[in-house]
Amino acid sequence: MEVRAVFLVGFMGSGKSSVGRELARQLDWDFVDLDTRIESRERQTVPEIFRERGETGFRLAETDALRDLLAESGQPNRVVALGGGAFVQERNRELLRPWLSVFLEAPASELWQRSQSDGIERPLRGDPSQFERLYEERLPFYREASLVIDTAGKTVASICLEIESALQLRETPEGAGRGLSGMNLTSFRTGESQ
Ligand code: S3P
Repeated sequence: MEVRAVFLVGFMGSGKSSVGRELARQLDWDFVDLDTRIESRERQTVPEIFRERGETGFRLAETDALRDLLAESGQPNRVVALGGGAFVQERNRELLRPWLSVFLEAPASELWQRSQSDGIERPLRGDPSQFERLYEERLPFYREASLVIDTAGKTVASICLEIESALQLRETPEGAGRGLSGMNLTSFRTGESQ
């Protein structure tokens, strides 16, 4: 059976985990959070890794966890939420090139508000201007994702519907949905990255 997976990409507060969980639920796929994988592999929380090994150490752990995830065979279909910096690393984008990635885009001001209210400790959040600067720096990388979804003011349910329909993820009576490996990903680009 063809292995199918979608990787959600975006800045802190962009809803990767909530959209990922809901999308996986709707498709009856598994949901995987890469930060959670890192924490169980390293037996430390993300903030602890940052404190002890700095960002460089965290990025190494992140790539190791991603490699492990991609090497797992015989897994069910899954939706994977990446951490906000994962897709910024060239080596990770290279690892993810054969797979579908979806950038959840929103204005920095909305992301700041969301990232403040979810109670998660984020070592790189900084103050509002640092937050916005980092977002601007990362945008060109996020826009390399296979699909860009504007999430501003939208509900999780409507974002999931948009992703499902743009990527044709639902099984159809004629057979499986679109194969995800080896496909021409550029044909799925939408929005500004077109
Ligand atoms: C990071 C975002 C975090 C986590 C780590 C680094 C980043 O994930 O991976 O704190 O570099 O933006 P979320 O995007 O889920 O907050």
